[in-house]
Amino acid sequence: MEVALDERFSSAHRIDPAGGFDLGKLRGKTAVITGGASGIGEASLRGLVQAGAFVAFSDISQERGDALEKELGSENVAFVQGDVTNWSDQKRLFKTAVEKSPSGCINVVFANAAIVEPTEPDMDVADIGFRGVLLTTKPLPCHHRQYRWLLGPMIKWAARGLMRSLRSSMPENEMRVNLMAPWYLRTNLISQNAWDHLEDNRGIILAEKEDAAKAVLHLASDETIHGRSIMIIPRKEAAEEYVDMDRDSHDLEVLGRERFSEK
Ligand SMILES: NC(=O)c1ccc[n+]([C@@H]2O[C@H](COP(=O)([O-])OP(=O)(O)OC[C@H]3O[C@@H](n4cnc5c(N)ncnc54)[C@H](O)[C@@H]3O)[C@@H](O)[C@H]2O)c1
Repeated sequence: MEVALDERFSSAHRIDPAGGFDLGKLRGKTAVITGGASGIGEASLRGLVQAGAFVAFSDISQERGDALEKELGSENVAFVQGDVTNWSDQKRLFKTAVEKSPSGCINVVFANAAIVEPTEPDMDVADIGFRGVLLTTKPLPCHHRQYRWLLGPMIKWAARGLMRSLRSSMPENEMRVNLMAPWYLRTNLISQNAWDHLEDNRGIILAEKEDAAKAVLHLASDETIHGRSIMIIPRKEAAEEYVDMDRDSHDLEVLGRERFSEK
């Protein structure tokens, strides 16, 4: 059974990309973004800075992070080179964000960093609960030719599960949590040749990272949205660039297909 949400976050309130949102709410706020030096993270970071927010961001890539900080200015962004899987790196990022925050606190957190190629998870909990399930099912006769392609959906289900767990307790601490689910969109997540292959040979129509960034700004600025999912969809295929997935209760794939056929 679903836990009742705090009254402030009515599930009747639909997220409407065409309805606009008040970017002014982000002025003077401080955001933290992981993996902010490329793709969706970078596009969101640029949008937040444009809206007058200060952004502390981490990335594994020193070179791209430094270049972005230099371009946007240390009065607007703070780059902390670090790995999201490393606890002390994460602490450094949050400590820097608070220290440099013009408001003295952190208002928005975007857990964005991820990779496509699997690496060894090194957390005990993840090792047993997550990696354990993966390695136990791997020997089964598998319908997927490439088992590694199951990892992507698996980590995203984990993120959805985490959002659903967090959303019942966050409002009492004056916090909100939402989830963004992008369709395929061209970033540095895989090689540019692989994106070309998806477009040219697999017929996949890509969405835009700027639309993902717009959704991030929408979620960050609208204080009435909590515990919901947004799916980013290709503009060529649907009337809107993102779609409200309610309280993450829709089947993303089915709803995505329905939305694509609307146009
Ligand atoms: N591009 C897509 O089609 C797509 C679709 C669905 C979901 N996503 C999700 O969007 C998010 C952003 O991906 P993107 O497409 O912008 O990719 P991207 O590769 O362009 O950007 C990801 C950034 O994260 C950084 N990073 C990687 N590992 C890190 C680590 N351990 N610590 C800190 N930083 C790290 C990378 O250096 C990179 O700058 C990811 O969670 C990805 O799974 C992307």
